[in-house]
Amino acid sequence: MRTFVLRARAAPTDSEKLWESVGKDAHTEILAHTLMNAMFVAQSHRPDVVVYLVLESTRDFSRTIRFDINAMHDIGGFDERSLLTKVARALDASRGMAKEETRPVESGVSVQTLSFEKLVQVLAEDHQLFLMDRKGTPIGEQVFADRPCFLLTDHIPMPKKTIPGLERMGAKKISLGPTMLFASQCVVLIHHALDQAPRR
Ligand SMILES: C[S@@+](CC[C@H](N)C(=O)[O-])C[C@H]1O[C@@H](n2cnc3c(N)ncnc32)[C@H](O)[C@@H]1O
Repeated sequence: MRTFVLRARAAPTDSEKLWESVGKDAHTEILAHTLMNAMFVAQSHRPDVVVYLVLESTRDFSRTIRFDINAMHDIGGFDERSLLTKVARALDASRGMAKEETRPVESGVSVQTLSFEKLVQVLAEDHQLFLMDRKGTPIGEQVFADRPCFLLTDHIPMPKKTIPGLERMGAKKISLGPTMLFASQCVVLIHHALDQAPRR
């Protein structure tokens, strides 16, 4: 199983604003690109992938949307509109939720009012955590166990004060080289590295 967490710091939790933000400062297209590269390959999907999108521009609580490809029946298209429609549906389903509540949206998709930090705390219990960072250990030197989980952000960096807490939870910094990439490009390279690795 491969898990990706995209901390989308600029992404609105209101579905109308989500649509309005495509190509604007919040760059919500990043969510669609990351989902696409995490879950799809040509003519198929990648099994055993879970993606969490954590949308943080909110008036109440962050929304954490979980996509489990193995349980998704209606995958639909892989174009930006189809993928953002899934995100928007989850946001609409989450209206009025209290803190740390979970709601199913459709098969394989659920939404939680859970912060990034709380989500990582939960994942730390049974995942090997990796914080994507250009200054980390080169990915080729890393040995992966069965349940790696990769932490990424949108165009806004991970707050510096969060990083020691992530490291205390076991997150190791790993790098894909010196070039600053999009999160969605990191996902492709991570899949590639794991595809080559003897254990995954
Ligand atoms: C567009 S980057 C974030 C840019 C942001 N301005 C920053 O300084 O972190 C999106 C995500 O990809 C990760 N990333 C980008 N290039 C990387 C690389 N070469 N190696 C590892 N992670 C990378 C970043 O750490 C971040 O999680």
